[in-house]
Amino acid sequence: ATPLILDCDPGHDDALAILLAVADPAVELLAVTTVAGNQTVDKCTVNARRVLSLAGVSDIPVARGADRPLVRRLRIADDVHGRTGLDGPHFTDEPSVPESPYTAHELLVDVLRSRPATIVATGALTNIARLLADEPGLAANITEIVWMGGSTERGNIAPLAEANAYVDPEAADVVVRSGVPFTMCGLNVTHQALVTDDVLARLEQIGTPLARICSEWMTFFASTYRELFGFEAPPLHDPIAVARVIDPAIVRCVEANLVIETAGEWTAGATVVDLDGYTGRPANARIAVGLDRDAFWDKVIAAIAGLSVC
Ligand code: BDR
Ligand code: CA
Repeated sequence: ATPLILDCDPGHDDALAILLAVADPAVELLAVTTVAGNQTVDKCTVNARRVLSLAGVSDIPVARGADRPLVRRLRIADDVHGRTGLDGPHFTDEPSVPESPYTAHELLVDVLRSRPATIVATGALTNIARLLADEPGLAANITEIVWMGGSTERGNIAPLAEANAYVDPEAADVVVRSGVPFTMCGLNVTHQALVTDDVLARLEQIGTPLARICSEWMTFFASTYRELFGFEAPPLHDPIAVARVIDPAIVRCVEANLVIETAGEWTAGATVVDLDGYTGRPANARIAVGLDRDAFWDKVIAAIAGLSVC
C-alpha cells in the first residue's frame, strides 16, 4: 500500500476523501493534517477528528495546521460548507479521536523523517509550502504531492481561480516550484464527479449509520451547490486526488508546464497550464485531464460500505 499523508480542510468533499483514504487497501493513511480554508482551522480540525471517529479509526493522528494563508487574509467558504464547515447532520458529542499534541508541521516532519510518503492535499497548500521552506531536506522523502486544486479552465471563486489556489496562491507557487513531483487534479476533472441521484441512491442502499451521515452531508452540499452555482448535483472534488493515488488509471493525467499566478490584478490564484506548449517551458507537473467515473464511484462507495461496521 502507498504510504499517504492527507492535508485537508474538511469540508464535505474532504470528509469523503478522508474516508476513502482510510478504507481503501491500496493506500496506508499515516496522518491527517488540517489547514484553514473551507472554514477556520479550528473547525476543520474538529471535522477531521469527527470523520475519523465516525469511521471507527483511532490510530491515525490528526494535527492542526496553518490558521491563515502565507501572506493573504483567509477567505473561508462557509457559503458552500456551512457554519461548521461540515453542515448537515448535527452532533452534540465531542469526536472520540483526539487532536494530536503535535502541530501539523511537527507531525509532517516526524512522519517524513521516518519514511517516504505521498502527500494528498485537498485544501490550500499553506502547510506544505511551510514544510518545504523550513525543511528542504525532507523534500526527498515526499514521493509525490497530489493536489485537488486549480483548473485548466475557469475557476469557482473568481473567474480564473479555483478556491484552494485562490486562498493561498503564494503557497501553491512555492510548492509547484519546489521540484517535488506534483500532480494537479483540478475542476476540469472534478466537475465530472457529480453526486447525482443514482450515487445518492447507492449510498443510501448501504444502509448503515455512516452511509446515512455521508448521504446527509451530500444532501447539504447539493443544496449549496444548487443555490450558489446552479449545479444539479455537487462535484465531489477532493476524493479524486485520493483516487489518483489508489489507482492512477482512474484519473488520466498529461505532463505540462504549470505556473501559479500570484501577481495578477484580476487573476491571482489562476493555475496557468500550458497544455498546448505555447510557452516552450518544460513540463513540471502532471495535470489531470480525464476521469473513469464508474471506477471512481465504485471506490468511494466500497470505502464507505467497508467502513460501516456499526
Ligand atoms: C475545493 O474547495 C473546497 O471548497 C473543496 O473542499 C475543494 O477542496 C474545490 O474548489
Ligand atoms: Ca477541500
